[in-house]
Amino acid sequence: MNDLKFEMAPETEPERQYFFIEQGAVLRKQKEEELKHPLTYHVTTFGCQMNAKDSEKMKGILNEMGFINCDDEKSADLVLFNTCTIRDNANQKFYGHLGSLNDKNHRNKDRITAVCGCMMQEKGCVEKIRNSYKFVNIIFGTHNIYKLAELVCLKLAGENFVCDVWDKPKDIVEDIPSIRKYPFKAGVNIMYGCNNYCTYCIVPYVRGAERSREAKEILMECEKLASEGVKEIMLLGQNVNSYGNGIKDSISFPELLKEVEKIEGIERIRFMTSHPKDLSDELITVMKGSNKICRHIHLPLQSGSSRILKAMNRRYSKEQYLELALKIRKELPDTAITTDIIVGFPGETPEDVDETIDVIKKVRFDGAFTFIYSKRAGTPAASMEQVDPELVKKEFNRVLEAVNKESKEMAALNTGKTEDVLVDDINEQDERLLTGRMSNNMTVHFPGERSLIGKIVNVRLEECKGFYYVGSMV
Ligand code: SAH
Ligand code: SF4
Ligand code: F3S
Repeated sequence: MNDLKFEMAPETEPERQYFFIEQGAVLRKQKEEELKHPLTYHVTTFGCQMNAKDSEKMKGILNEMGFINCDDEKSADLVLFNTCTIRDNANQKFYGHLGSLNDKNHRNKDRITAVCGCMMQEKGCVEKIRNSYKFVNIIFGTHNIYKLAELVCLKLAGENFVCDVWDKPKDIVEDIPSIRKYPFKAGVNIMYGCNNYCTYCIVPYVRGAERSREAKEILMECEKLASEGVKEIMLLGQNVNSYGNGIKDSISFPELLKEVEKIEGIERIRFMTSHPKDLSDELITVMKGSNKICRHIHLPLQSGSSRILKAMNRRYSKEQYLELALKIRKELPDTAITTDIIVGFPGETPEDVDETIDVIKKVRFDGAFTFIYSKRAGTPAASMEQVDPELVKKEFNRVLEAVNKESKEMAALNTGKTEDVLVDDINEQDERLLTGRMSNNMTVHFPGERSLIGKIVNVRLEECKGFYYVGSMV
């Protein structure tokens, strides 16, 4: 009965997905009549901002199909996991979580368990899930999340197992529904994938080659968001500073920022991530002249040893990184610089780690994520000689101590200042307090009314608690 309808689906996107959203709504209703309750969904997201953004799109699709969002993963009729594979512990965490769901309740034939995201693009992963987690009945990858409605339709129409993982991306499909965690903040993809092939990293393999979106598409999306009340936009890409490569006559990333700045209603602009090799003077100049671009640059260092940076294929040296970071400190003195550091890359010695700590002390990072190197199958570093895990643990603690010391001291320098704060939410621990973010991305908690959520207010920073502030509105 349903097959006939499916055959009528348009070939072109996104029209095809709108067709399946409608069909899915009909099938969902039929199922609801059979089960005698409204169908609910729950989405769990692992990993970075890219996955968070993808999940918003998928939630948008499920909402359009008439599924109801529910907080309880155990009772939802459709559970979706958007996975990350950046480090092995991300994978283990996911398998552990999936294993914990493997009970009779979850094996219920009416329940839909869908898994997607970066892990699914890895060799062997789909087989492992098919063999060990038989209750999973929809699997897809990173390149076709926009097809969720179609895949759910196939399942609702009676297929036992639906699997659709593509090796490579096809066209960029946009204009599908999306919902946001906060109505006043939104992420906007400006590019997908990555071409940098850092030797430790799996992202280029699971997310495909770098593709930039057309500037006019990006600006249209930002304008639409502004008209819906969005105040803060985060431009997303693995390497935003190489925006436009591969598009004929494209504008540069700093030019794109200037265009976003012109949009009325947008009060704050953030971006993530900046690869140090591509951060231009033009960007610094544009930031200097802007009062909407937030005072925060995430500038992953990875290592302070030029020898290790070379082996990582990062394409900058310790000296070049220092020169850039210190230039930002000088030209944009109120801008927070945060970073990512990997400890235990193949061949790394305590002397290499000394170099990393030297950079930490010289730049004085406002914040840092420190990771233990994780071997990823298929990357060049996986076949290099690995470092003894005991040694890595020791060196990791040294790095952690150094970054914590600097970032605590840097944070404390703001005591007594008054800052613009975008109010995000009620404080999770104490509902008399609001939680918000300053332009430099630091969190501050302060007393205030719920009605201020989504507004930008002035807050005096009274007490630094290490990585966040307690303050009061002025
Ligand atoms: N595109 C961004 C990074 C995205 S991944 C950039 O190049 O700056 C986020 C962080 O995860 C990286 O900066 C790196 O520090 C860390 N990471 C990536 N692969 C890793 C691995 N194999 N082991 C440990 N950390 C890794
Ligand atoms: Fe990975 Fe390097 Fe690309 Fe960042 S730039 S996503 S670390 S390959
Ligand atoms: Fe993870 Fe994929 Fe992001 S591997 S860090 S979710 S791009």
